[in-house]
Amino acid sequence: MNQTINGGGASSLQFPAQLRICVVGMGYVGLPLALAFQQHYPVVGFDINAQRIEELRAGIDLTREATSAELQSANNLLFSAAAEDIAQCNVYIVTVPTPIDLSHQPDLGAIISATELIAGYLQAGDTVIYESTVYPGVTQELCQPLLEQSGHKAGKDFALGYSPERINPADKDRKLKNIMKITSGLTHECAEFVDALYSKIIVAGTFKAASIRTAEMAKVVENAQRDVNIALMNELAIICDHMDLRTYEVLEAAGTKWNFLPFKPGLVGGHCIGVDPYYLIHKSQRVGHHPDLIISGRRINNSMGTYIARKVTRMMTQRDIEVTKANVLILGITFKENCPDLRNSKVVDIHRYLVSMVGTIDVYDPLVRSADSEHELGVSLAGEPPQNHYDCVIMAVPHDEFLQRGADWVRSLCRQPCLVYDIKSALVPALVDKTL
Ligand SMILES: NC(=O)c1ccc[n+]([C@@H]2O[C@H](COP(=O)([O-])OP(=O)(O)OC[C@H]3O[C@@H](n4cnc5c(N)ncnc54)[C@H](O)[C@@H]3O)[C@@H](O)[C@H]2O)c1
Repeated sequence: MNQTINGGGASSLQFPAQLRICVVGMGYVGLPLALAFQQHYPVVGFDINAQRIEELRAGIDLTREATSAELQSANNLLFSAAAEDIAQCNVYIVTVPTPIDLSHQPDLGAIISATELIAGYLQAGDTVIYESTVYPGVTQELCQPLLEQSGHKAGKDFALGYSPERINPADKDRKLKNIMKITSGLTHECAEFVDALYSKIIVAGTFKAASIRTAEMAKVVENAQRDVNIALMNELAIICDHMDLRTYEVLEAAGTKWNFLPFKPGLVGGHCIGVDPYYLIHKSQRVGHHPDLIISGRRINNSMGTYIARKVTRMMTQRDIEVTKANVLILGITFKENCPDLRNSKVVDIHRYLVSMVGTIDVYDPLVRSADSEHELGVSLAGEPPQNHYDCVIMAVPHDEFLQRGADWVRSLCRQPCLVYDIKSALVPALVDKTL
């Protein structure tokens, strides 16, 4: 790619002939992006976490998004925790975390510090693109002024864009290159450049949004829609419980209608669906609208861990299992199956409720190191669970590894009487027919 990528027309921006890309933040989003771009341009994969950089250099990706072979054959990619290594770059793509604080307010600390770092190196002709999920307005109202402290003007001296990420960690079919990508820019020229840049790596195609704010909004809306739909399923599951109906059987029947949406009840954790709606709520309230439905969905989804734990203790009692003496096993601690990500895992709510109620409680998750679980969630992990030992087994996160071992393995861990609670109905009906 060279300057022919310009948006055409009266151009004030002078894009460099040789692009050198810096991806800022080597996490779930940044690493696959750096690996894709390095097939076309020299790339610096920058992260403030020196340990993460060392691991990547050694061919180890704890997020499991890249194989050792992919990392070691990425000859055009320099992993670095040294700020001076980004100085020679002219395209900066920001993929740092955008979490929430304890009051569920957006924490934009990482995006601000990454932006300030870039501003220190920004030159005329450079491009800055944000990929981190934000509420509409962050790129232009917060980041742009910080970048312009460099003395350069957005849209005139440097290009500014936003392109939200849609990757789905642990999904082996939908990868960066085969998910359509939304692009946007501050001006027509910026938008054209950003779109052409991503077109180099995205096989599924790009979609040029009308504006940066439109692209920012589209991302949070995607996840808010999913959150609200899961909340509806969770509420229906609670109603089914009250009526002694099995939710999965109801959904199976309802799902035979052509326009019934196949959402399932469950725990909503992680850093996307359980977080992004708060960004939308924050912005909505700032512009004077109280988003009742989205807030209500968040409240329902946040309460499900405790709801499930209560239900489990009730069911144990119904089965003559003495709760205070029961050995309980939780299978899976990550926020979703087949992914080692622990952030905001709601399984911890189940653990927190049960730990003071039951005799013993073990958590087994072969995807996670116990030290990481202790650090992130305050929960230490047990080793391979013993057979004929548990009075209650909760299949919390149905990793493929658990499903491959199957219902017979789960049953073999139980002594009788035993309750097996399969949160996502992953082994149902194999378990229900014989165990529940
Ligand atoms: N993980 C996903 O599935 C996913 C999907 C779509 C969008 N997103 C969004 O993408 C963004 C990144 O998410 P992620 O899951 O890749 O996060 P992550 O925590 O996996 O990775 C972020 C990386 O950024 C680094 N970092 C933090 N502050 C930094 C700074 N100032 N400078 C340089 N590096 C810094 C961290 O050390 C970390 O390695 C978030 O806004 C998230 O909401 C994530």
